[in-house]
Amino acid sequence: MAKNGILAVLITMVPCFLLVGLTRAQLSVDYYSKTCPNVEDIVRKEMISILSVAPSLAAPFLRLHFHDCFVRGCDGSVLLNSTKDNKAENEAPPNRSLRGFGSVERVKAKLEKACPNTVSCADVLTLMARDAVWLSKGPTWPVSLGRRDGRISIADETMQLPPPTANLTQLIQMFAVKGLDLKDLVVLSGAHTIGTTDCAAIKGRLYNFTGQNNLNDVDPFLDRNYIAKLRSKCSPTDTTTLIEMDPGSYKTFDLSYFKQVAKRRSAFHSDWALLTDSFTRAYVLKHVNGFESEFFQDFAESMIKMGNIGVLTGDQGEIRKKCSIVNY
Ligand code: HEM
Repeated sequence: MAKNGILAVLITMVPCFLLVGLTRAQLSVDYYSKTCPNVEDIVRKEMISILSVAPSLAAPFLRLHFHDCFVRGCDGSVLLNSTKDNKAENEAPPNRSLRGFGSVERVKAKLEKACPNTVSCADVLTLMARDAVWLSKGPTWPVSLGRRDGRISIADETMQLPPPTANLTQLIQMFAVKGLDLKDLVVLSGAHTIGTTDCAAIKGRLYNFTGQNNLNDVDPFLDRNYIAKLRSKCSPTDTTTLIEMDPGSYKTFDLSYFKQVAKRRSAFHSDWALLTDSFTRAYVLKHVNGFESEFFQDFAESMIKMGNIGVLTGDQGEIRKKCSIVNY
């Protein structure tokens, strides 16, 4: 009887321990409610001020968060600088065109002043990406907080980032590894409604698609007239000129990315690849003709999923003092 009693207590206690463990390890929207209650206001105020001077930084903040989450999870590893013994993520080829690091540091410094040693760089970046979309006239959503910062950043691990030359099978695989499905893929690709690309990322489609390197070697799935337009901006040797990814509306978060994809005028082969699967194709074509609120809702949901990839919580990682260097 006594034995049974102990057993019963144990059986009820084990799930309790599990629950405590789980609770500690979870993100929550009110994570800083006691330790830094104004965190969201501080980030938003800074974002309004940064974007009022440099509106073209909205897209880089969103991209920074994506590149953070896809490599080692959303742990701020993309923000770390190289050291003498280690080449960090942000020096790897896919990350060389990332921008906005100084602004992340600026927002983090404001938070350090208001609530020292409390808010992680990973959370700062997640909030900045969310506000960047909203300030570009896109949707907003509740962000769960409590991410901790990683201490490791390895350039070679950026191989996990999808390249602009990827086909749909590759994209599906690279998203699936991160727990994101086909719908997340098409919806999150919609982020390319804002921002620019440099000629380096698209010139393969214009001059050297299969390695023959001549004027006929173009991506056959890129609209012919658009090729001419892009060529007038990007010479074969140009790697730096910036091209609007969603011409005419590259500062506004809207549906026009889907119009570009449908017309085979998107910047990357990976965008075009969305037309090669019946589900993603149907999503693109549906949103050429409206349903903006549905896209906004979907985008918010997929961003929440992306923001949860591989997060460090509880006593994992640390709260960095400065986003570019680990604490000593
Ligand atoms: C689906 C696979 C994806 C591929 C292959 C891809 C590739 C790229 C490339 C090559 C650039 C241009 C870089 C440059 O030359 O400056 C770019 C820009 C951008 N990407 Fe993606 N991307 C993908 C998905 C995403 C996702 C999921 C997001 C965010 C949720 C995102 C957000 C952005 C933004 C906002 C820019 C513009 C950045 C700027 O203006 O500086 N991308 N992407």
